[in-house]
Amino acid sequence: MPKVAIIGVGDVGATLAYTLQLSGLATEIVLIDIDEGRTRGHALDMNHGLFFTPPVKIYAGEYTDCQGAKIVVITVGSRQKPNETRLELVQRNAGICKSIVSRIAPYIQETVLLVTSNPVDVMTYVVLKSSGLPSGQVLGSGTVLDSARFRFSLSQRCGVDARNVHAYVVGEHGDSEVLLWSSVNISGITLESFCKGCKHKCPPNSQSQIEESVKKSAYHIIEAKGFTNYGVSLAMLRILGAILRDEHGVLTVSTLLNGEYGLSDLCLSVPCMISNNGIERVIEAPLSAGESAALQKSAEVLRSVIKSLDY
Ligand SMILES: NC(=O)c1ccc[n+]([C@@H]2O[C@H](COP(=O)([O-])OP(=O)(O)OC[C@H]3O[C@@H](n4cnc5c(N)ncnc54)[C@H](O)[C@@H]3O)[C@@H](O)[C@H]2O)c1
Repeated sequence: MPKVAIIGVGDVGATLAYTLQLSGLATEIVLIDIDEGRTRGHALDMNHGLFFTPPVKIYAGEYTDCQGAKIVVITVGSRQKPNETRLELVQRNAGICKSIVSRIAPYIQETVLLVTSNPVDVMTYVVLKSSGLPSGQVLGSGTVLDSARFRFSLSQRCGVDARNVHAYVVGEHGDSEVLLWSSVNISGITLESFCKGCKHKCPPNSQSQIEESVKKSAYHIIEAKGFTNYGVSLAMLRILGAILRDEHGVLTVSTLLNGEYGLSDLCLSVPCMISNNGIERVIEAPLSAGESAALQKSAEVLRSVIKSLDY
């Protein structure tokens, strides 16, 4: 029966726990956080909703409760402060993630670890290396959310349901991420062909406007309300669903690259097939020359952070 442990029950972890409760995907949800009182409060509050949701056992637990979990989600850490880049969070969160891995190490040999703590690509690398697990078993939420933001922006611009828009963001979950314009399609039609029959009069700079809105949306949300939680939790729920339902869905999660796209020994997001065991396959999408160069640059950004890490 699928048990999911969430380590770090702040704004993101608590919202994920709630969306997971509503989804009916898990039979057991364990909440683990250094702030035990607030975590017990979240568990009790969620239990009071059980009359209205699919049955699920929810409780505040300890690291030992990761035993038997199909998935452990790591959402601990400090959140971005206004104007702080994700990369500036790195050193603080790396130490926390590493110490958590050492606490759960005895219980996670068969478990998939999903990391969301920022900077997520670097934290995924830290968790992977310190856990010693096979690379497919450790993934980061990566640019699943950014790809959803890209689809949303395109859907708004084109006046079409976001679910008919196929578009991917790869690279760092952060400022150097790469929007793959060359492979955008709307219900199987290339963007260029779709635009031909469209009556919306897009300004000539609409592509850069979309780039800006996708890349800066986290900053705008944090400026407005101090944190992001709903979009990221739904993105994580999508990843959990792909694992728990053995979907073989393709999502841009952060993964260790081993020669794909000419890159190795770092984690970043590319399209990956997700199944019950975690990452089943890293997919090599065809990129334009510009996209390929931008992906290499994004990798350089991450590589320099990983190099500077003292963990
Ligand atoms: N990847 C993404 O798309 C994305 C989106 C939003 C937030 N995030 C990141 O997720 C993380 C959590 O964000 P948040 O807004 O929920 O932050 P938050 O401050 O609300 O919650 C963090 C939680 O971690 C707990 N914590 C801290 N140290 C701990 C430890 N050693 N052991 C156990 N628990 C510990 C805190 O008590 C707190 O409850 C941050 O790193 C944030 O940047 C990532």
